[in-house]
Amino acid sequence: MDVTVILVLIIVFCVTFFFMKQRKHLPPGHFRFPIFGSVFLLRKLAKQRKHLVFAEEAKRYGGIFRWYLGKQMFVVLSGTDVINEALVKKAEVFSDRPPRAGSAFASKGIAWSNYGNYWRELRRFTYRTLRDFGVGKTSTEEKINAEIAVVSEFLKTSKGQPVSVSALMQKLVANVIYGIIFGRRYDYSDPEFDRVTKLSNVLNSASPISATFFLPKFLAKYVNTRDAETEERRKKALDDMACYVSAQIEEHKATFDSNNIRDFLDIYLDTDRDSEDGKQSIINKESMFWVIVDIFVAGTETTKTTLDWAFLYLSEFPDVQKKCQEEIEKVIGGKPIEYRDRNSLVYVNATIMEVHRHCCMAPLNLPHCTSQDTTLGGYHIPEGTIIFPMQYSVSRDPKLFKDPEKFDPTRFIDSKGQLINNLPIVPFSTGPRVCLGEALARTEIFLVITNLLQMFNFSPENPDKPQDFACDVTQSLNVAVPFKLRVSKRW
Ligand code: HEM
Repeated sequence: MDVTVILVLIIVFCVTFFFMKQRKHLPPGHFRFPIFGSVFLLRKLAKQRKHLVFAEEAKRYGGIFRWYLGKQMFVVLSGTDVINEALVKKAEVFSDRPPRAGSAFASKGIAWSNYGNYWRELRRFTYRTLRDFGVGKTSTEEKINAEIAVVSEFLKTSKGQPVSVSALMQKLVANVIYGIIFGRRYDYSDPEFDRVTKLSNVLNSASPISATFFLPKFLAKYVNTRDAETEERRKKALDDMACYVSAQIEEHKATFDSNNIRDFLDIYLDTDRDSEDGKQSIINKESMFWVIVDIFVAGTETTKTTLDWAFLYLSEFPDVQKKCQEEIEKVIGGKPIEYRDRNSLVYVNATIMEVHRHCCMAPLNLPHCTSQDTTLGGYHIPEGTIIFPMQYSVSRDPKLFKDPEKFDPTRFIDSKGQLINNLPIVPFSTGPRVCLGEALARTEIFLVITNLLQMFNFSPENPDKPQDFACDVTQSLNVAVPFKLRVSKRW
């Protein structure tokens, strides 16, 4: 046989073996081409929003499909059942986080560490501290109300001129977090406030999975031209954040009094002192730095973005806004609204649920990773597979939500006028990795929306032009493009 024929046969055998090996028991989806991974899908992902591309792919391949970035296998999960099976029933295996070699964020702190003792202990400590916070001090609810009062004063002076409600929400939410962690707040016109809040915005921007983690830089550009640049900006922002947090720690040390614990940082200083006495503790200076970064990053942009969407929808749908206001007037009257009032405001709650569902702020959730070989829906999922539990597939599922593109709070109200709260929208995710700040976020969102609606009407900047509901394509979260609203006093 001639050498060329032998070579051709060898190549055909290798290629066939390569593809057969990939196919074996794995979920359907895209092949892995050498070096790049799933070339054709990657081109699509470079041009369009990921969750929209994945939603189309899921129509082709079903609720569990695979693709590759370099050698790394990814699996996208669509639909409530399959997401629950992974995140709840098989949580022990599906709750790691992806490796982020070369990322600005190390695998430290809560959000990016693997499912294990380090994560569990940090999470438990932080959860307890956030929950207990305010005992004997200004409670979290009071902090939120104080910020709502400041925002109201700004809105009163706007006199019908277009206002960046979004900028106000950012400062409101950031001050609540600063209050909890550092026991301080900033004046809204303080340039230092702008500088620090921008840091959390940079740290939050773009995909948490950068192509640069899996491909050489020059190839990563092919997949996403912004990824490498974003990682550089994130690293710089993280350095600046480290300086800021260190300065706060030094300030607190100088005035620390263990009989007068003022905030999260004081609790940490107290705990760290214990560990210096000889006890080995996971709660130490380094881990706490990362927890503070986690709370900054995860706790500001997310809540602010949800509030942005809420005010956009309320101004776009004046009938929904009016019904919320009527319910508030009827049930609460003119007194300030407290969080304990929430159960009596059915329509308002339904509106908030519809905001979460429709904006679907985290369409792909945070990525998870498998800690060992496992199966899902009958398919083999190898250890180290990166999992995208696609929340968007649930919030746009026509079997669960009739006419899913329509914004309609009444879908969450039954024929007896009761709130339907067993529909599977999970903006805060589910399973052991569920959002740590859910209670805080829910409190903020409820208090801000109700108290501001009690006092003000919100309308589009230009009533003759349709509201811009587009998402900022540079962000991995569904973040609204910058917008302004007109705000007028109700009485
Ligand atoms: C509307 C507001 C918010 C939304 C929609 C939201 C949503 C989410 C989602 C989808 C996750 C990923 C869960 C998973 O991996 O399965 C998450 C994780 C997390 N969130 Fe939130 N979040 C919000 C506000 C907050 C706030 C206010 C804080 C801080 C106080 C916070 C802290 C965290 C942390 C630390 C994690 C990582 C949890 C872990 O890995 O164990 N979030 N959040």
